[in-house]
Amino acid sequence: MKKVLVTGGCGYIGSHTIIDLLENGFEVISIDNLLNSTEAVLEGIYAITGKRVRNYTVDLCDRDATLQIFSAHPDFVGIIHFAALKSVGESVLQPLRYFHNNLNSLLNVLQCAQDFEVPHFIFSSSCSVYGNSSALPVMEDTPWEEAQSPYARTKQMGEQIIRDFSVAAPFMRFILLRYFNPAGAHPSALLGEAPSNPASNLVPVITETAIGKRPEMRIFGDDYPTRDGSCIRDYIHVMDLANAHTRALQYLIDKQPDNPCDVFNLGIGEGVTVLEAVHAFEKVTGQKLSYRIGDRRPGDVVAVYADYSKAARLLGWQPRYQIDDIMRTAWDWEKTRTYG
Ligand code: NAD
Ligand code: WQD
Repeated sequence: MKKVLVTGGCGYIGSHTIIDLLENGFEVISIDNLLNSTEAVLEGIYAITGKRVRNYTVDLCDRDATLQIFSAHPDFVGIIHFAALKSVGESVLQPLRYFHNNLNSLLNVLQCAQDFEVPHFIFSSSCSVYGNSSALPVMEDTPWEEAQSPYARTKQMGEQIIRDFSVAAPFMRFILLRYFNPAGAHPSALLGEAPSNPASNLVPVITETAIGKRPEMRIFGDDYPTRDGSCIRDYIHVMDLANAHTRALQYLIDKQPDNPCDVFNLGIGEGVTVLEAVHAFEKVTGQKLSYRIGDRRPGDVVAVYADYSKAARLLGWQPRYQIDDIMRTAWDWEKTRTYG
């Protein structure tokens, strides 16, 4: 059995990726200090897969505690490192907390990977590394612009740290995955996005408004130079994203590529406006959303979407879900969820 360490395994993308890993024959150990999650997700994983996953409630910034887990499991075939703080707005207010958490946890995990000779490593990066890029669609080699937040800078720095480290760790292979806008939930409605901190991303804001947790929502600007005036993003279903991780890991194991550190965009390659997303939600759920047009949100880029042809070519990955599926599964989850 191939044993994988998933850091941040109780979080949104980590928990969905665990499902895909288990369904593809991997064994999983999670480390998550539950800063933005709960262990209730482990019950969801069990209900879907019939498999129990162990989570160690440990802060990855604690080097000794992290080391102990590696000592107990010296046989990881790979590490998928999701654990991080991810709120763009919060990072502007608490930059030191973001640099401390996102970079020290990464350094500790890399050190342990080196000490225990774990051969494969996958890092959660983000389209935010591209900054305010005007080149569309964004390719992996599109030059980076200035990071728009301390959060985005932790992702740029994380990628650079891994690239430098990969030169000094020739026995290891790395993949950096740049997610665009992850959304949606497992189709069973037994698992979905349930952050402990208030959600600020569009899809959970929509579902929380529809269920009545929020009185109404704002559309942040309808005067952008787009087809309906609202911003364009590339929404990718979380299960498509999850499957890309399994494929990336399998690719490293099977191919042992010459390139020690490779990078892939993960989006579906189609831009959807905020208003189109809202209307997709209303159409597939039959719910009328209470929304108002508000001011532009500082820091928002007008439009961004991915070229994912590299992931298709090398990983054999294709997204299967569209915006309607994202809205349907997110809504099914919102209606049944009991935590978060
Ligand atoms: P999430 O907050 O749901 O999951 C992250 C998990 O990491 C949480 O459960 C949290 O408790 C844990 N964690 C954080 N710091 C930790 C630490 N020091 N030690 C142990 N556990 C810790 O976030 P997510 O949406 O699942 O994101 C996963 C990764 O993907 C993150 O690195 C994030 O930056 C990146 N990412 C997310 C998005 C998105 O929109 N969700 C987009 C691009 C990239
Ligand atoms: C999407 C669109 C908003 C909420 C962020 C990070 C990015 C990545 C993904 C981590 C925008 C609009 C939103 C609302 C709205 N995360 N919106 N009303 O900002 O594209 O990307 O998450 O790496 O790095 O920056 O995602 O979901 O916040 O916004 O009108 O209440 O929805 O203005 O156009 P964003 P988002």
